[in-house]
Amino acid sequence: MICDIKNDDCIKYLEEYQGTDFDLTFLDPPFNQSKDYRSHDDNMTPRKYWDWMSEVCNIVYQKSSQGAAIYFMQREKNAQYVLDALATSGWTFQNLIIWKKKTSAVPSNIRYGKHYQIIAFATKGSAPRVFNKLRIDPPLLVTDKYQRPNGMFVTDVWDDIRELTSGYFAGDEPLRYETGERVHKQQSPVELLARIILSSTNVGDLVFDPFAGTGTTLVVAKQLHRKSIGVEIDSKNYNFVRKRIESPRSTDDIKGMYSYYRFTEKLEELWPVSDHDYVLDPEPNQLKIF
Ligand SMILES: C[S@@+](CC[C@H](N)C(=O)[O-])C[C@H]1O[C@@H](n2cnc3c(N)ncnc32)[C@H](O)[C@@H]1O
Repeated sequence: MICDIKNDDCIKYLEEYQGTDFDLTFLDPPFNQSKDYRSHDDNMTPRKYWDWMSEVCNIVYQKSSQGAAIYFMQREKNAQYVLDALATSGWTFQNLIIWKKKTSAVPSNIRYGKHYQIIAFATKGSAPRVFNKLRIDPPLLVTDKYQRPNGMFVTDVWDDIRELTSGYFAGDEPLRYETGERVHKQQSPVELLARIILSSTNVGDLVFDPFAGTGTTLVVAKQLHRKSIGVEIDSKNYNFVRKRIESPRSTDDIKGMYSYYRFTEKLEELWPVSDHDYVLDPEPNQLKIF
């Protein structure tokens, strides 16, 4: 099963790409917020940044299969630019997913505190080639009267996935240096990618990530028996991704989430689980500095 990380610029890579069409793309770019990236200028003019995003959406569209899905993650204040970039490059809008954060909202005196991130879900053509209607089994709230006999389906509000970008509270899942410092401040949770990949692909499909970062997309795709290709411009991050793929950590293992999705129809087909899927490092979470 292909699980391939490239150390390259995503546009350059995509321009030369002649392989199989992508069935799903997870697009989690730098947000142009003057963050400190080693190999990227995160302080472009808004015009330049959004032209760049449109170019990425456009070229991914050209290399995607009919009905393929794209999930474009961004700050909520940029929703209109995200939808524009997708529409002008041909994608058909499906949902604006609200990913509600678990940590405290950023307070403000002039507007409501911000407590979510958006993920725009769009497809190539109006009908997705795959859309698996997942069912989950979250704990009952005090306002819920009865135990649900078969869980509930996933909606466009995702409030059950904890973000990793909150220092100490991020726990063991983020890659860390031996000092405890996180390797990458924008690492996505494996739970987020599991939901996206399960919803929009079947076993054997090809998942693409043009801004691979720490390689979360690839690590999850591999466990779900999907092919994957990621591109990451920074060579240090790239080395971490390679190591993360080659030496699985217990904190990346998604098998524990299976029962949460157990009411999903034909789950065993979407998510074949075997004990040999993922051989765990006996010393979990012990990535070493390169
Ligand atoms: C928001 S992070 C992605 C995090 C990722 N979702 C994860 O789980 O780790 C964006 C990444 O894009 C990379 N990047 C920036 N410009 C790039 C480019 N032109 N081509 C490929 N990667 C790029 C950055 O180095 C950074 O690691």
